[in-house]
Amino acid sequence: MGIMNRACMDCHSYETRWPVYSRIASVSWWLINNVNDGRDTLNLSEWTQYKSSFATATLGSMAMVVNRGAMPLDSYKKFHPEARLSHEERKIFYDWASAERQRECENTNLNHSHTQ
Ligand code: HEC
Repeated sequence: MGIMNRACMDCHSYETRWPVYSRIASVSWWLINNVNDGRDTLNLSEWTQYKSSFATATLGSMAMVVNRGAMPLDSYKKFHPEARLSHEERKIFYDWASAERQRECENTNLNHSHTQ
């Protein structure tokens, strides 16, 4: 998902593109902390290992935080104009995450009915 690569991956995956400014000590601490915290909360690199119920819940909060404009963090957007999402993009992301969540829910239900 393009929007996610642009706006989320730096802090929520192992694929952090360390920018030039991260060599400035004070800024780099700020970024490292955010990346560590962000990864603890949500690690998109480990997505496929997430339990279905957790993935469903996470997609729900992803849709929510982007819809509210809470993610990406404001402080990050200052340095990364490319991560700013327009109203339209927030809606695309929201719809995408909601649809994925729905699909994940249905998969879970299917799997359950198989075992019964
Ligand atoms: C600058 C780094 C950074 C970027 C970029 C970023 N996040 Fe986060 N994110 C964090 C940090 C740090 C936390 C954990 C602390 C917090 O909740 O403020 C977090 C928490 C979250 C949470 C959990 C929130 C909760 O209340 O449970 C979700 C979901 C999330 N981010 C989704 C996203 C999505 C989706 C994007 C891209 C559109 C994104 N983040 C971009 C740093 C980032």
